[in-house]
Amino acid sequence: MQYKRILLKLSGEALMGDRNYGIDPKRLSEYAKEIKEVVDKGIEVAIVIGGGNIFRGVAGASNGMDRVQGDHMGMLATCINGLALQSALEAENVFTRLQTALEIKEVAEPYIRRKAIRHLEKGRVVIFGAGTGNPYFTTDTAAVLRAIEIDADAILKGTRVDGVYDADPEKFKNAVKFENITFKDVIEKGLKVMDMTAFTLSEENNLPIIIFDMNKQGNLLKLVSGEKVGTLINI
Ligand code: GTP
Repeated sequence: MQYKRILLKLSGEALMGDRNYGIDPKRLSEYAKEIKEVVDKGIEVAIVIGGGNIFRGVAGASNGMDRVQGDHMGMLATCINGLALQSALEAENVFTRLQTALEIKEVAEPYIRRKAIRHLEKGRVVIFGAGTGNPYFTTDTAAVLRAIEIDADAILKGTRVDGVYDADPEKFKNAVKFENITFKDVIEKGLKVMDMTAFTLSEENNLPIIIFDMNKQGNLLKLVSGEKVGTLINI
Protein backbone atom coordinates (compact mmCIF):
# COMPACT_ATOMS: atom_id res chain seq x y z
CA MET A 1 0.00 0.00 0.00
CA GLN A 2 1.22 3.47 -0.92
CA TYR A 3 -0.30 5.16 2.11
CA LYS A 4 -0.80 4.09 5.69
CA ARG A 5 -2.91 6.96 6.95
CA ILE A 6 -4.96 9.19 4.68
CA LEU A 7 -7.26 12.12 5.05
CA LEU A 8 -10.10 11.91 2.56
CA LYS A 9 -11.78 15.19 1.70
CA LEU A 10 -15.26 14.88 0.24
CA SER A 11 -17.37 17.77 -0.95
CA GLY A 12 -20.86 18.15 0.42
CA GLU A 13 -22.17 18.67 -3.12
CA ALA A 14 -20.92 15.22 -4.08
CA LEU A 15 -23.43 13.72 -1.65
CA MET A 16 -26.30 15.21 -3.64
CA GLY A 17 -25.78 12.72 -6.46
CA ASP A 18 -28.28 13.79 -9.14
CA ARG A 19 -30.31 15.85 -6.73
CA ASN A 20 -30.19 19.62 -6.34
CA TYR A 21 -30.07 19.60 -2.58
CA GLY A 22 -29.47 17.34 0.40
CA ILE A 23 -28.23 13.79 0.49
CA ASP A 24 -28.69 11.03 -2.05
CA PRO A 25 -28.77 7.76 -0.05
CA LYS A 26 -27.48 5.81 -3.06
CA ARG A 27 -24.42 8.03 -3.46
CA LEU A 28 -23.81 7.97 0.29
CA SER A 29 -23.90 4.20 0.32
CA GLU A 30 -21.54 4.00 -2.70
CA TYR A 31 -19.05 6.20 -0.89
CA ALA A 32 -19.31 4.06 2.25
CA LYS A 33 -18.51 0.96 0.19
CA GLU A 34 -15.50 2.63 -1.44
CA ILE A 35 -14.22 3.68 1.98
CA LYS A 36 -14.78 0.23 3.43
CA GLU A 37 -12.58 -1.28 0.69
CA VAL A 38 -9.57 0.74 1.82
CA VAL A 39 -10.29 0.27 5.52
CA ASP A 40 -10.32 -3.48 4.88
CA LYS A 41 -6.81 -3.17 3.47
CA GLY A 42 -5.65 -1.78 6.80
CA ILE A 43 -5.44 1.85 5.72
CA GLU A 44 -6.21 4.35 8.45
CA VAL A 45 -8.87 6.72 7.16
CA ALA A 46 -9.90 10.13 8.44
CA ILE A 47 -12.56 12.11 6.60
CA VAL A 48 -13.50 15.75 6.31
CA ILE A 49 -16.73 16.43 4.50
CA GLY A 50 -18.08 19.74 3.27
CA GLY A 51 -21.60 21.03 3.79
CA GLY A 52 -22.41 22.73 0.51
CA ASN A 53 -25.27 20.34 -0.27
CA ILE A 54 -27.09 21.85 2.69
CA PHE A 55 -25.68 25.32 3.21
CA ARG A 56 -22.77 27.42 2.02
CA GLY A 57 -21.68 30.28 4.25
CA VAL A 58 -20.25 32.29 1.36
CA ALA A 59 -23.47 31.98 -0.65
CA GLY A 60 -25.44 33.10 2.41
CA ALA A 61 -23.19 36.14 2.75
CA SER A 62 -23.65 37.04 -0.92
CA ASN A 63 -27.40 37.04 -0.29
CA GLY A 64 -27.05 39.57 2.49
CA MET A 65 -26.64 37.20 5.42
CA ASP A 66 -24.01 37.92 8.03
CA ARG A 67 -20.92 35.94 6.98
CA VAL A 68 -20.14 34.56 10.42
CA GLN A 69 -23.74 33.48 10.87
CA GLY A 70 -23.64 31.80 7.46
CA ASP A 71 -20.37 30.03 8.26
CA HIS A 72 -21.82 28.70 11.51
CA MET A 73 -24.75 27.29 9.52
CA GLY A 74 -22.27 25.75 7.08
CA MET A 75 -20.36 24.15 9.95
CA LEU A 76 -23.54 22.59 11.27
CA ALA A 77 -24.26 21.34 7.75
CA THR A 78 -20.95 19.43 7.78
CA CYS A 79 -22.05 17.79 11.05
CA ILE A 80 -25.27 16.63 9.38
CA ASN A 81 -23.25 15.14 6.52
CA GLY A 82 -20.86 13.60 9.04
CA LEU A 83 -23.72 11.88 10.84
CA ALA A 84 -25.10 10.62 7.53
CA LEU A 85 -21.72 9.25 6.49
CA GLN A 86 -21.23 7.67 9.90
CA SER A 87 -24.56 5.87 9.51
CA ALA A 88 -23.72 4.71 5.99
CA LEU A 89 -20.33 3.39 7.12
CA GLU A 90 -21.87 1.59 10.08
CA ALA A 91 -24.34 -0.03 7.70
CA GLU A 92 -21.24 -1.50 6.01
CA ASN A 93 -19.92 -2.66 9.40
CA VAL A 94 -17.15 -0.08 9.46
CA PHE A 95 -16.36 1.27 12.93
CA THR A 96 -16.45 5.04 13.02
CA ARG A 97 -16.15 7.99 15.34
CA LEU A 98 -17.47 11.46 14.58
CA GLN A 99 -15.55 14.31 16.20
CA THR A 100 -16.69 17.88 15.85
CA ALA A 101 -14.79 21.15 16.13
CA LEU A 102 -17.85 22.79 17.72
CA GLU A 103 -19.09 21.00 20.81
CA ILE A 104 -22.39 19.19 20.33
CA LYS A 105 -21.59 16.56 22.90
CA GLU A 106 -24.95 14.86 22.92
CA VAL A 107 -24.49 14.12 19.23
CA ALA A 108 -20.78 13.56 18.68
CA GLU A 109 -17.42 13.53 20.44
CA PRO A 110 -15.58 16.82 20.62
CA TYR A 111 -12.42 17.00 18.53
CA ILE A 112 -9.48 15.76 20.59
CA ARG A 113 -6.36 15.14 18.51
CA ARG A 114 -4.90 12.36 20.65
CA LYS A 115 -8.23 10.55 20.79
CA ALA A 116 -8.63 10.86 17.02
CA ILE A 117 -5.19 9.30 16.48
CA ARG A 118 -6.02 6.49 18.91
CA HIS A 119 -9.26 5.76 17.05
CA LEU A 120 -7.33 5.58 13.77
CA GLU A 121 -4.78 3.23 15.30
CA LYS A 122 -7.66 0.99 16.33
CA GLY A 123 -8.89 0.88 12.74
CA ARG A 124 -11.84 3.23 13.19
CA VAL A 125 -12.71 5.76 10.54
CA VAL A 126 -12.68 9.21 12.10
CA ILE A 127 -14.97 11.80 10.56
CA PHE A 128 -14.18 15.39 11.46
CA GLY A 129 -17.22 17.68 11.54
CA ALA A 130 -17.76 21.44 11.88
CA GLY A 131 -14.73 22.38 9.79
CA THR A 132 -12.04 24.14 11.82
CA GLY A 133 -14.72 25.47 14.18
CA ASN A 134 -14.00 28.99 12.95
CA PRO A 135 -15.76 31.20 10.42
CA TYR A 136 -13.88 32.40 7.31
CA PHE A 137 -12.18 29.01 6.88
CA THR A 138 -13.21 26.44 4.31
CA THR A 139 -13.57 22.70 4.84
CA ASP A 140 -10.55 22.34 2.54
CA THR A 141 -8.55 24.24 5.16
CA ALA A 142 -10.06 22.05 7.88
CA ALA A 143 -9.03 18.98 5.88
CA VAL A 144 -5.42 20.16 5.55
CA LEU A 145 -5.27 21.21 9.19
CA ARG A 146 -6.58 17.88 10.47
CA ALA A 147 -4.37 15.95 8.04
CA ILE A 148 -1.30 17.69 9.42
CA GLU A 149 -2.44 17.27 13.03
CA ILE A 150 -2.97 13.52 12.67
CA ASP A 151 0.20 13.17 10.59
CA ALA A 152 -1.60 11.79 7.53
CA ASP A 153 0.59 10.72 4.61
CA ALA A 154 -1.51 12.66 2.13
CA ILE A 155 -4.78 14.43 1.60
CA LEU A 156 -6.98 12.80 -1.01
CA LYS A 157 -9.47 15.26 -2.40
CA GLY A 158 -12.33 13.48 -4.11
CA THR A 159 -13.95 15.64 -6.78
CA ARG A 160 -16.02 15.05 -9.92
CA VAL A 161 -12.98 15.90 -12.06
CA ASP A 162 -10.23 13.28 -12.25
CA GLY A 163 -7.29 15.58 -11.56
CA VAL A 164 -5.75 18.99 -12.16
CA TYR A 165 -5.95 20.27 -15.75
CA ASP A 166 -4.33 23.24 -17.47
CA ALA A 167 -7.86 24.57 -18.16
CA ASP A 168 -11.34 23.69 -16.94
CA PRO A 169 -12.01 20.27 -18.56
CA GLU A 170 -15.77 20.81 -18.26
CA LYS A 171 -15.42 23.91 -20.50
CA PHE A 172 -12.39 23.15 -22.68
CA LYS A 173 -12.24 19.85 -24.57
CA ASN A 174 -8.48 20.11 -25.18
CA ALA A 175 -7.60 20.65 -21.53
CA VAL A 176 -4.54 18.59 -20.54
CA LYS A 177 -4.32 16.74 -17.25
CA PHE A 178 -1.21 16.85 -15.08
CA GLU A 179 -0.12 13.53 -13.56
CA ASN A 180 2.18 15.33 -11.14
CA ILE A 181 2.57 19.01 -10.45
CA THR A 182 4.40 21.02 -7.82
CA PHE A 183 2.72 23.42 -5.41
CA LYS A 184 4.77 26.21 -7.00
CA ASP A 185 3.55 25.40 -10.52
CA VAL A 186 -0.08 25.29 -9.40
CA ILE A 187 0.31 28.81 -8.01
CA GLU A 188 2.32 30.14 -10.98
CA LYS A 189 -0.14 28.75 -13.51
CA GLY A 190 -3.07 30.12 -11.50
CA LEU A 191 -4.73 26.67 -11.33
CA LYS A 192 -7.58 26.18 -8.89
CA VAL A 193 -7.08 23.24 -6.57
CA MET A 194 -8.09 24.55 -3.15
CA ASP A 195 -8.43 28.00 -1.64
CA MET A 196 -5.07 29.63 -0.94
CA THR A 197 -5.27 29.27 2.85
CA ALA A 198 -5.67 25.51 2.51
CA PHE A 199 -3.18 25.21 -0.31
CA THR A 200 -0.33 27.12 1.31
CA LEU A 201 -0.89 25.34 4.64
CA SER A 202 -0.45 22.06 2.79
CA GLU A 203 2.66 23.29 0.98
CA GLU A 204 4.29 24.70 4.13
CA ASN A 205 3.82 21.38 5.90
CA ASN A 206 4.92 19.25 2.97
CA LEU A 207 1.58 17.45 2.83
CA PRO A 208 0.97 15.97 -0.63
CA ILE A 209 -2.47 16.55 -2.17
CA ILE A 210 -4.06 14.14 -4.61
CA ILE A 211 -7.02 15.31 -6.66
CA PHE A 212 -9.05 12.41 -8.01
CA ASP A 213 -12.50 11.38 -9.21
CA MET A 214 -14.27 9.86 -6.21
CA ASN A 215 -17.31 8.96 -8.30
CA LYS A 216 -15.43 6.40 -10.35
CA GLN A 217 -15.83 3.04 -8.68
CA GLY A 218 -12.61 1.53 -7.33
CA ASN A 219 -10.57 4.73 -7.70
CA LEU A 220 -9.97 5.22 -3.99
CA LEU A 221 -8.59 1.72 -3.55
CA LYS A 222 -6.44 2.04 -6.67
CA LEU A 223 -5.04 5.29 -5.38
CA VAL A 224 -4.03 4.00 -1.95
CA SER A 225 -2.61 0.87 -3.60
CA GLY A 226 -0.18 3.07 -5.52
CA GLU A 227 -1.86 3.05 -8.94
CA LYS A 228 -1.68 6.25 -10.94
CA VAL A 229 -5.02 7.92 -10.32
CA GLY A 230 -5.74 11.64 -10.45
CA THR A 231 -3.07 14.31 -10.02
CA LEU A 232 -0.42 14.32 -7.30
CA ILE A 233 0.65 17.72 -6.03
CA ASN A 234 3.80 17.86 -3.96
CA ILE A 235 6.92 19.93 -3.33
P1 GTP B 1 -11.54 3.69 23.44
O1 GTP B 1 -12.31 3.05 24.53
O2 GTP B 1 -10.50 4.64 23.88
O3 GTP B 1 -11.03 2.71 22.44
O4 GTP B 1 -12.53 4.64 22.58
P2 GTP B 1 -14.09 4.62 22.50
O5 GTP B 1 -14.46 5.71 21.53
O6 GTP B 1 -14.65 3.28 22.19
O7 GTP B 1 -14.50 4.97 23.96
P3 GTP B 1 -15.40 6.03 24.57
O8 GTP B 1 -15.84 5.46 25.84
O9 GTP B 1 -14.72 7.35 24.52
O10 GTP B 1 -16.62 6.12 23.56
C1 GTP B 1 -17.64 5.18 23.48
C2 GTP B 1 -18.70 5.70 22.55
O11 GTP B 1 -19.20 6.95 23.01
C3 GTP B 1 -18.21 5.97 21.12
O12 GTP B 1 -19.21 5.64 20.20
C4 GTP B 1 -17.96 7.45 21.09
O13 GTP B 1 -18.10 8.02 19.81
C5 GTP B 1 -19.03 7.95 22.05
N1 GTP B 1 -18.60 9.17 22.71
C6 GTP B 1 -17.46 9.40 23.39
N2 GTP B 1 -17.41 10.65 23.83
C7 GTP B 1 -18.54 11.26 23.42
C8 GTP B 1 -19.10 12.56 23.57
O14 GTP B 1 -18.53 13.47 24.14
N3 GTP B 1 -20.32 12.75 22.99
C9 GTP B 1 -20.99 11.79 22.33
N4 GTP B 1 -22.16 12.08 21.80
N5 GTP B 1 -20.52 10.56 22.18
C10 GTP B 1 -19.31 10.30 22.71
